[in-house]
Amino acid sequence: MNTANISFKLNGQALSVDVSPDTPLLWVIRDMAKLTGTKFGCGIGLCGACTVHMGRRAVRSCITPISAVAGAQITTIEGLSADGQHPLQKAWVQTQAPQCGYCQSGQIMQAAALIRRFPKPSDADIDSVMNGNLCRCMAYVRIRQAIKIAAAEVQAGAPHA
Ligand code: FES
Ligand code: FES
Repeated sequence: MNTANISFKLNGQALSVDVSPDTPLLWVIRDMAKLTGTKFGCGIGLCGACTVHMGRRAVRSCITPISAVAGAQITTIEGLSADGQHPLQKAWVQTQAPQCGYCQSGQIMQAAALIRRFPKPSDADIDSVMNGNLCRCMAYVRIRQAIKIAAAEVQAGAPHA
C-alpha cells in the first residue's frame, strides 16, 4: 500500500500522518488523533454525524480523503471552544437538545457554519443548511430552537468560532 505524509492542523495543533492518501479524515481524527467526539454514522456522506470544519466550511469527514486535507485547518467538536462555552454548546445545554447524543457533535459543527452564513437564521435557513444532518431521535425542534438562541447570543456579541 502506498502511503503519503500529510500535514495539517487539527484544532490548532500541527499534525503529520503517514497513511494511504485515500484514508478518510474521520479515521485519522478518531483512530490516530483519538478525538472521538466526531462520530461515524453512515460512512457515505448522508447523515452528518462526522461533520467537522475544514477552514470555515462544514465537511463530512467520512468522505473527505486525507489527501484533501494537506495544509488545511481542521476543527472538530473538541476544538470548537476551549472551555465548552461556545454559544451553541451553551444553547444545546439550555434546550436539552440531545437525546441519545450520537448525532449532536455533527449537528453543532454544522450549526456553527450555519450561523456564520445566516447570522439571524429563519426556520427556512436552518432547514436548508441542517437538512443533511439526521437525528434518529427526532430532536429537530430543540436543535432549531438552540440554533436561534445561539445566533441571538452571537448577534449580541458573544465570541463565535
Ligand atoms: S458518517 Fe459521515 S455523513 Fe454519515
Ligand atoms: S440525539 Fe439521538 S440521533 Fe440525534
